Amino acid sequence: MPQVAPSILSADFANLERDCRRVLTQNSPILHFDVMDGVFVPNLSIGVPVLESLKKAVPEAIYDVHLMIVRPAAYVEAFAKAGANYITIHYEAESDVADTLQAIRALGCKAGLSLRPGTPPEALFPLLDAADLVLVMSVEPGFGGQAFMPGAVDKIRALRAEAARRGLPLLLEVDGGINAETAKPCIAAGVDILVAGSAVFKAEHPVAVIGAIAGATA
Ligand code: DX5
Ligand code: ZN
Repeated sequence: MPQVAPSILSADFANLERDCRRVLTQNSPILHFDVMDGVFVPNLSIGVPVLESLKKAVPEAIYDVHLMIVRPAAYVEAFAKAGANYITIHYEAESDVADTLQAIRALGCKAGLSLRPGTPPEALFPLLDAADLVLVMSVEPGFGGQAFMPGAVDKIRALRAEAARRGLPLLLEVDGGINAETAKPCIAAGVDILVAGSAVFKAEHPVAVIGAIAGATA
């Protein structure tokens, strides 16, 4: 069964611990933590001090940190020390991607690589040995609540096929516009983790929504 990673970008930041506890269950232990610098994407969000506090308040969660920042290499150590378990950087970032993925692994985290909707999956193929996870963006990064871009499904399929061909134990994650409907083709294409922000946190019964997304079949 695929996993769901609620994106706390859509949580109530004045009640972050409460909102995180509301979505965490034994079957769904991951929290997606979106970091934006106002340069790589036209928005600002949260950073190291928030992760540090959240890790202390909710230590049992797995923290899936998505860095939408121009120079991730300068910050991966700080995020690892603050409690990140997965750290994902963008293929389009300015830092040396292969070196940064290696640095993330050396810090004891899973190394993730993400691509914008306009980047072809083949661009990542030479880097797949250095990555534990690929995060396929199904919206233009920067904001929650956008509509799912169906082009992501073919990318998931292409990356799944390439990983299988090379025998790589790659985790595939999709991020943007995910709900119980848009999850279906992603799961059919072989995704392992589905990020969902607004669908989960704006729902009256977040745990039910998480179950519906994870169990979505075409
Ligand atoms: C967008 C972020 C996403 C976002 C998803 O740039 O990377 O993680 O929070 O939000 P929804 O699920 O509302 O599209
Ligand atoms: Zn994200």
